[in-house]
Amino acid sequence: MDHFLYRDGVLFAEDVAMSEIAAAVGTPFYVYSTATLERHFRLFDEALAGMDHLVCYAMKAASNQAILKTLAALGAGMDVVSGGEYARAKAAGVPGERIVFSGVGKTRAEIAMALEGGIRQFNVESEPEMVVLSQVAVEMGKVAPITIRVNPDVDAKTHAKIATGKSENKFGIPIAKARAVYAEAAALPGIEVIGIDVHIGSQLTDLAPFEAAYLKVAELTEQLRADGHTIRRLDLGGGLGIPYVRSNEAPPVPNDYGALIRRTVGHLGCEIEIEPGRLIAGNAGLLVSEVIYVKQGEGREFLILDGAMNDLIRPAMYDAWHDIVPVVEPEAGCEQVPYDIVGPVCESGDTFAKGRMMPKLQAGELVAFRSAGAYGAVMASEYNTRPLVPEVLVKGDHFAVIRARPSFDEMISRDTIPEWL
Ligand code: LLP
Repeated sequence: MDHFLYRDGVLFAEDVAMSEIAAAVGTPFYVYSTATLERHFRLFDEALAGMDHLVCYAMKAASNQAILKTLAALGAGMDVVSGGEYARAKAAGVPGERIVFSGVGKTRAEIAMALEGGIRQFNVESEPEMVVLSQVAVEMGKVAPITIRVNPDVDAKTHAKIATGKSENKFGIPIAKARAVYAEAAALPGIEVIGIDVHIGSQLTDLAPFEAAYLKVAELTEQLRADGHTIRRLDLGGGLGIPYVRSNEAPPVPNDYGALIRRTVGHLGCEIEIEPGRLIAGNAGLLVSEVIYVKQGEGREFLILDGAMNDLIRPAMYDAWHDIVPVVEPEAGCEQVPYDIVGPVCESGDTFAKGRMMPKLQAGELVAFRSAGAYGAVMASEYNTRPLVPEVLVKGDHFAVIRARPSFDEMISRDTIPEWL
């Protein structure tokens, strides 16, 4: 459920008409609903009620500080994967003890930064990383709390580019090697092993792969405890999928997922962490764009938008489907036309949809891409020297620009010209 509904013939974000934001900000823009973000966070929080738990929002999904602050105010922790994300979370006021650090390639500088600023735990992904973490912590006179990310060799049954839990993926240590690696970790100074981490992939629309992975983690917890390790925290990753096609997709909801967690690892008495990103932010955001031209091609009609692949890369990168709806509510039974919906970027990959049935549209009309809140603005680039899309946050009947569109001057003045030119 989200808070983007038609009212008086126009698409609203909560109590603000999209056309009003478009008039104030220009297109394209991303818009997020506070109520939807809060609702989605609470669904996870409530799904784990009664268990000692922390929902660490995977901020890679949408990392604007206004979004982080909205979630942190409800008690969210953050899952960060870079020094930049760590700095952003801190800047948004998230305390170090609510930040977990994931990722396969943490540098010494990033590790030192998190140790200095405070960290809940590092999710260590390899033996070399563990050794570096130990060295940096010892040099700084600190003890780093760690979980080790295990790769359970489970097929997440999702798009190959976002599956992470198979042995051929670069993530975690093979679960079969876990006992040996935990023994090594226990012998290293400067680190304290506190638990296990697992994350098998993103946009999972079936609970079975989670179940397979969490059962393996439960078994490993018991083995490691028998080996003498203190396993008191389980980080179960993110990955619960969202419905991108509203009419016929009904993926499991956080409550089903919470029940699965209870069933598989609830008896172990561990503190539970989860790292959802997409389900919190995905359907809490839209990308709004204007039709620049309707162009008649050979046997097809192109809807050329002012938004492009650099603004929303998911269709080009993962062949992802996003529902695209007119901002002005179509009349019931209106004429539907198949459009190839494209952006202005100079490559054919800049295609959002082919043969998509839409109400007949004209230049100047607005369309909204649904489910664009996660992995939308954060994956945008300035390709073709197109400004990064602005972001807007709505709360009730007011809205604020939470990232302004840069001017051309701001963009091009970042270049520096060598003295010999
Ligand atoms: N934890 C870890 C360690 C992760 O790598 C990820 C996502 C998450 C949590 C959050 O997963 P979520 O709940 O959002 O599924 N750009 C791609 C998605 C990449 C996901 C990367 N890792 C897309 O647009 O579909």
